[in-house]
Amino acid sequence: MTRIAYVNGVYQRHADAGVHIEDRGFQFADGVYEVCEVRHGFIIDLTRHLDRLDRSLAEIRIGWPMTRAALVIIVREVLRRNRVRNGLFYLQVTRGSARRDHVFPLDGTPSTIVVTAKRTDASLIARKNTVGIRAITVPENRWDRVDVKTVGLLPNVLARQAAREEGAQEAIFVDPDGTVKEGAATNVWIVDGQGKLRTRHADHGILKGITRTTLMDVVAAAGIDIEERAFSVEEMLAAREVFITAATSICFPVVAVNGKTIANGHPGSMSQKIREAFFDVAEKTAI
Ligand code: PDD
Repeated sequence: MTRIAYVNGVYQRHADAGVHIEDRGFQFADGVYEVCEVRHGFIIDLTRHLDRLDRSLAEIRIGWPMTRAALVIIVREVLRRNRVRNGLFYLQVTRGSARRDHVFPLDGTPSTIVVTAKRTDASLIARKNTVGIRAITVPENRWDRVDVKTVGLLPNVLARQAAREEGAQEAIFVDPDGTVKEGAATNVWIVDGQGKLRTRHADHGILKGITRTTLMDVVAAAGIDIEERAFSVEEMLAAREVFITAATSICFPVVAVNGKTIANGHPGSMSQKIREAFFDVAEKTAI
């Protein structure tokens, strides 16, 4: 089957799709993006993802490239044309293409919009849920507005690669004071030594994950106590459970950090419980 991508008004073969060499996304990482899960033919938490896109665009002062309704039509069309029932879509908006100059291009320069979609391997995700994943910690070296979902992800890329080279699947950024920030592409949660569910408060220091927000709803509905407060690497290593969350994976248990086993080295019950309830609580929009 031929993969299809949407680029600036045109649906085209994924393999042939491209943007201009002076696109500001390509030259300056001057753009924002969203990744949204599709499950059993439903887009998961579309409203929250579009709300966050709205915020990201406003924070870096890019106007909406089209109406929200028009964008949703494109997303649906890309999913349909790629026959994605289980997978994800990727949406990127940049400040458009213009002769290279750091300052914003002239008013009226059209932004670049790209939408792609892909299927995900359910068996691979299931395996990670059963076995758990391994993580490493890395020093925080990103800018101080990581709450904005920009495509400037070089530190995240280098961190993930470092994890890969150490036989781990995620890298967790840690502040100089030893507190845990978030993963290269995930939020981090623990069940601490006292049995309390904790995840770092969402300020400018982490991306406020949509999965994180929906899991807060899951936890509230289940009557589980949660504390939004930073924790240290030591607390994470001593935790009863560690898990990471993102739209691509929902909730993966972490069974080792920096080669040290977490609890008994097996996925814990909290991550399993909230993962199982996730799709009942999340918003589902039919393709
Ligand atoms: N990343 N923190 C960072 C740095 C992220 O890049 C992501 C998601 C998250 C989790 O956010 P959400 O629950 O909304 O997916 C937290 C996406 C999946 C990516 O870059 O591929």
